[in-house]
Amino acid sequence: MALKKCVALAVAVTTTAQASLYNETKVNHTCILDPLVLSCSKQAQPNLVDTCCTETYGGLLLSTQFWSTYTGLEDQGQKLPADTWTLHGLWPDFCNGSYTQYCDLTRQYDPTPSPNTTNGLPNGTVVPPYKGPNVGTFVSNFGRLDLLNWMNTYWINQGAPNSDFWGHEFSKHATCYSTFDLPCYGPNYVEHQEVIEFFETAIKYYRRLPTWSWLKEANITPSNSTTYTLGDIQGQLAKKFKATPYVGCSGPRYNETEQGMKAKSNDTGRTVVSEVWYYMHAYGRPQEGNTVPVNATGSNTSCAKAKGALHYYEVTPSSVQGS
Ligand SMILES: *[C@@H]1O[C@H](CO)[C@@H](O)[C@H](O)[C@H]1NC(C)=O
Ligand SMILES: *[C@@H]1O[C@H](CO)[C@@H](O)[C@H](O)[C@H]1NC(C)=O
Ligand SMILES: *[C@@H]1O[C@H](CO)[C@@H](O)[C@H](O)[C@H]1NC(C)=O
Ligand SMILES: *[C@@H]1O[C@H](CO)[C@@H](O)[C@H](O)[C@H]1NC(C)=O
Ligand SMILES: *[C@@H]1O[C@H](CO)[C@@H](O)[C@H](O)[C@H]1NC(C)=O
Ligand SMILES: *[C@@H]1O[C@H](CO)[C@@H](O)[C@H](O)[C@H]1NC(C)=O
Ligand SMILES: *[C@@H]1O[C@H](CO)[C@@H](O)[C@H](O)[C@H]1NC(C)=O
Ligand SMILES: *[C@@H]1O[C@H](CO)[C@@H](O)[C@H](O)[C@H]1NC(C)=O
Ligand SMILES: *[C@@H]1O[C@H](CO)[C@@H](O)[C@H](O)[C@H]1NC(C)=O
Ligand SMILES: *[C@@H]1O[C@H](CO)[C@@H](O)[C@H](O)[C@H]1NC(C)=O
Repeated sequence: MALKKCVALAVAVTTTAQASLYNETKVNHTCILDPLVLSCSKQAQPNLVDTCCTETYGGLLLSTQFWSTYTGLEDQGQKLPADTWTLHGLWPDFCNGSYTQYCDLTRQYDPTPSPNTTNGLPNGTVVPPYKGPNVGTFVSNFGRLDLLNWMNTYWINQGAPNSDFWGHEFSKHATCYSTFDLPCYGPNYVEHQEVIEFFETAIKYYRRLPTWSWLKEANITPSNSTTYTLGDIQGQLAKKFKATPYVGCSGPRYNETEQGMKAKSNDTGRTVVSEVWYYMHAYGRPQEGNTVPVNATGSNTSCAKAKGALHYYEVTPSSVQGS
């Protein structure tokens, strides 16, 4: 399923479960009174700013998307939107590119935690599978049926219900933002309010990053008869985004494909385009969407770099919504 495709770039560091990252009080988080500070800048320190108003924990934001050709749950009506990549998530990496996960086990809504411990190692704190009502019900309980409908159109899982994926993204990643911490919402906090706000924020970022259209502008469209070159795909996305995103691939390694073997290539990158991660910093609350694009840190791809090595496959016709 989609969750499994979340390939870790950096090694996750240990974290302990707690209800709030900095033990903030429930009062005095009027962010319009706080200086507008850029995450990962020198001033973005928990002792210098209100951690509810400037992201001081996961200040390197990654807006992530998938390209898939099927969902595996077509028979239940779970299909892919036409002519668009789908939303994966909005991740709060540390400024140095490493990250933590499942930072607040009191808000664990992931039915199939992956990894199943907070540090991904056998000696980590176990992340218990969530057994409660699916997170889609959190959205409908707020009367936000339009939001739920949008999520079921563009935030699509593979091999399991969409709502499992949304719960995974929230609990694994969103609990590691200082700006989504519960005390930030004040004494009138309504349960799951921050879950809804996280979904809206992830959507806000996603909607500004039309990967499919950006590629089409450069005549890069899904095709089962043509192949593409990483440099062309990444170069076009970098031109539109104004910084180099990470481009992820799945499928066979190029050195193990017929084409790669014929060329005696030593390029071990994978060959099926499947993900893109856009990196940015945010001024003030990430919720406001006041961001600055930054280049991908560390490795910027898992794909083969050889000329014409990549498949950007067409969606299976019966997996498209409306089919
Ligand atoms: C928050 O409070 C808990 C429990 O009192 C404590 O263990 C933890 O170290 C505190 N965290 C911070 C960042 O102050
Ligand atoms: C909140 O702000 C008020 C007014 O500045 C101040 O008197 C009070 O001590 C603050 N309370 C906390 C818990 O920070
Ligand atoms: C990255 O930053 C985090 C948070 O400041 C820190 O815990 C971690 O050790 C750092 N990792 C590396 C590899 O420097
Ligand atoms: C976590 O997953 C690993 C590998 O899949 C497995 O061996 C282990 O038993 C699991 N641990 C728990 C607590 O479920
Ligand atoms: C957990 O295991 C890892 C690797 O096996 C080790 O490096 C780490 O020190 C261990 N952590 C604890 C808290 O035991
Ligand atoms: C391709 O590269 C991988 C990773 O280095 C290696 O394990 C594999 O043997 C290589 N395959 C061929 C056919 O050379
Ligand atoms: C792969 O082969 C090319 C020459 O064909 C060489 O320049 C390059 O260093 C090799 N890379 C690795 C990782 O072996
Ligand atoms: C990204 O890297 C390129 C060089 O690869 C550099 O010219 C550019 O300034 C960098 N952009 C940002 C936003 O850091
Ligand atoms: C991606 O990273 C590699 C290795 O660090 C670097 O050589 C290359 O210039 C980067 N690509 C882009 C488009 O910035
Ligand atoms: C294109 O190829 C992919 C991968 O083999 C396959 O899943 C998909 O159904 C194909 N699409 C069309 C329109 O044939």
